[in-house]
Amino acid sequence: MQPLSESRQRERVSVHIHDTARAACQVLAGEIAELIRSRAREGRQAVLGLATGSTPVSLYRELIRLHKEEGLSFANVVTFNLDEYYGIPRDHPESYWSFMHQQLFNHIDLPASQLHIPDGTLPRSAVFDACRQYEEAITAHGGLDLQILGIGRTGHIGFNEPGSGRDSRTRLVTLDALTRRDAERDFPGEDKVPRYAVTMGVGTILQARSIVLLAWGEAKARVIAQAVEGEQRESLPASFLQQHDNVRFLLDNAAAGELTRVKLPWLVGPVEWTPPLSHRAVTWLSEKVQRPLLKLLDEHYAEHGMADLLTTQGPAYTLNIHHFNDMQHTITGWPGGKAGADDTHRPERATPYPKRVLVLAPEPSDEMLGMGGTLTRLVEQGHEVTVAYLTSGSLAVSDEEAEMAAELISGYLGTEDRDKSCHFHKDKEPATLRSESEEADRRRLKRLIRRGEARQALHSANVPVTAAHFLDLPFYETGRYRQFYPGEADVNAITEIVLKVRPHMTFATGAGQEPNSVGAICFSLLLKALRAARGDGSESCGYTDNCHIWLYRTPDKAWQTHEINMAVPLSPSQLAQKTRSIYQHKRQRDTAPDTSDTKAWQIAESANRTLAKAYDALGMAEYEAIEAFQRWEAEKC
Ligand code: GLP
Repeated sequence: MQPLSESRQRERVSVHIHDTARAACQVLAGEIAELIRSRAREGRQAVLGLATGSTPVSLYRELIRLHKEEGLSFANVVTFNLDEYYGIPRDHPESYWSFMHQQLFNHIDLPASQLHIPDGTLPRSAVFDACRQYEEAITAHGGLDLQILGIGRTGHIGFNEPGSGRDSRTRLVTLDALTRRDAERDFPGEDKVPRYAVTMGVGTILQARSIVLLAWGEAKARVIAQAVEGEQRESLPASFLQQHDNVRFLLDNAAAGELTRVKLPWLVGPVEWTPPLSHRAVTWLSEKVQRPLLKLLDEHYAEHGMADLLTTQGPAYTLNIHHFNDMQHTITGWPGGKAGADDTHRPERATPYPKRVLVLAPEPSDEMLGMGGTLTRLVEQGHEVTVAYLTSGSLAVSDEEAEMAAELISGYLGTEDRDKSCHFHKDKEPATLRSESEEADRRRLKRLIRRGEARQALHSANVPVTAAHFLDLPFYETGRYRQFYPGEADVNAITEIVLKVRPHMTFATGAGQEPNSVGAICFSLLLKALRAARGDGSESCGYTDNCHIWLYRTPDKAWQTHEINMAVPLSPSQLAQKTRSIYQHKRQRDTAPDTSDTKAWQIAESANRTLAKAYDALGMAEYEAIEAFQRWEAEKC
C-alpha cells in the first residue's frame, strides 16, 4: 500500500473520497450540526454560505433529518446564498429562491429574516448597489464560517463562469453557453433559460473561513481533476480555491474517477497489479505512446511507471499478447450469444438461445443513444426483446410542443373550441398560476408525445413496437428535477416487469451518474427490484442469478476501452439506421442554445465512431462504429 502523501502528490487541495454522496453528506451535515450547536452554546450565530443545484440536495435532506429527528435548531443560523438567476420572479419554480425554500428553508426553523439570497428581480440600475449591500451584509455578520459549493461543468463556482477573476465580487454576470445548456432541462423550451445571474464573486467566496466543494457523479470527474491537479487559471474559476488554506473537496467515487491517484495510480506510487488494473494500464500505455498493443516495447512500460508490472508479469511481448487477446474477446457481432458456438471467450453465453432480453431506458431515447444498433441485432438474431421505458420523459417536453399537439388534436376533432379537447391556451398563464388539472393535461400530452417518438424510433430500428412497455414511474410523474422522491411503488413497478419478462439478459444504464439524476435513481431502483425479485420466494426466484446485467452508457459519458466487456461493431449502414432511429426523438434533433451547430444525435454517432477508432488504434480490426457494454457483477446488487 503506497503512503497517502505519495499518491496525492499531484493534488493541490485536500480531497476526501466517499463511496456514495449520501455517506459524504452525512459526514458534512454532522460537522455543520456541530458548528451550529457550538455557536449556540456560545450564544453566537453560525454564518453559512449555501449553494443550489442537484449537488447539495442530499446534504439538505440530511440537515432536515437532523432537524426533525435529532432536534437540530437553525434559530442561530444566518445564511447567504451564492447566486440567483436574473430576470425571473422569485416565485418562478426554477428561481434559486424557490429552490432553497423547497429543498431546505420550508423544513427547518431558520427565521426568514436570517436568510439572504441575491435579488434577481431588481432593475439593472439597482443591481450594482444591491450587490455591494450583499457583501456588506456578509461582513456585518462577521463573514462566512463555511461556504458550501457545487461545481458546474465549465468549472464555475456560484455563477463565476470561465473568465471570472480571482478578486471578483458579487455582481451581475452573463451565463456561459454550456451552463445554459445544462440548465435547459429545468427550463424546457427554447430561449427560456435566463441569460444572466447575480453571483458572489470568487473573491467573496475565498473570504469564507472554510470552504467545502461537493461533487458527485462521473460527469464532474474531468473538471474536478482539473481543479484539483491543474494550474490556477481564470478559465477554470474553481482552480482558485487552491489559494485557500481551509478548503476541502468532498467527492463520491465517480466524481473522483479522473484524479491521477484513482485513474492512473501507477504514476504516483507502487500499486498492486490486479488483472483489471494491469488491463487499464496497458491499454492506457498504448493510447499514451500511440502504438498498437502488440507493438509496445519493454522501454515503453519502464518509462511510464510500469517497470514492476514488467518484472512480475512481463516481458512486454507476454503482456502485449495477453491484453490484446482480452480486448479481442470483447468484440462480438452476437450480443445475445452465438448459438452452437464455443463461448469460452465470448462476452455472452451461447445458451439458452434465443434469450429473453430486457432493455431498460430511464427516459425514452436513452436506449437508442446507448445501444440502438445492438437492439436491432438482438431482434434480428431472434431474441425476445422487451424495452421498458421507466419514466415518461415528459419533463423534457416544452409547453410549446404540448400546445402544438393540442392544436392538432382540436383540428383533427374538427372543433374550433379548444376548451372541449384540451383546456389550455398559449400564453394563458405563467406556469406558477396554472390549475392542477391544466398542468395534468399538459403532462399527459407530453407523455404521449414521448411515447409516440419512442415507438417511431423502435419502428425505425426494426424493433416491433409491441416490445415497448411504458412504466411511467410515479417518482417522475409526481416530481420535478431535483425533487424526486422514489419509493416502493417505483420498485414494485420494476419488479413486476422483471418477474414478467424473467430476462436472461438485462441492459441498464445510470450507474455512476449524479445521485439525483433520473438515470441514477432508475439504476438504484433496478437494484432494489432485482433484490426483491430474487427474494420473493416465488417460482421465478433464483432466476436473477442467471441473468447477466449489461450496462450501456449514453454518449456524453462513453465507456473507455479498458472498461468494456462487450463491444458490438456496427457497419456504416447499421450506424445510419441507428441514427435514423435516434432522429425520431425531437430533443435529439435540437441544437443546444448558443452552442455550435452540433445536434444531439451527432454526438451519439461520433461517440460510436470514436470508440471504433480507439479499438483500431489498439490494433483491433477497423470498424465503422462500436457500441460498448460493461458487465455488472451480480454481487454488487
Ligand atoms: C449552477 C449553480 C452552481 C452549481 C452548478 C452545478 O450553475 N449556480 O452553484 O454548482 O449549477 O449544478 P449541479 O449541482 O446541478 O450539477
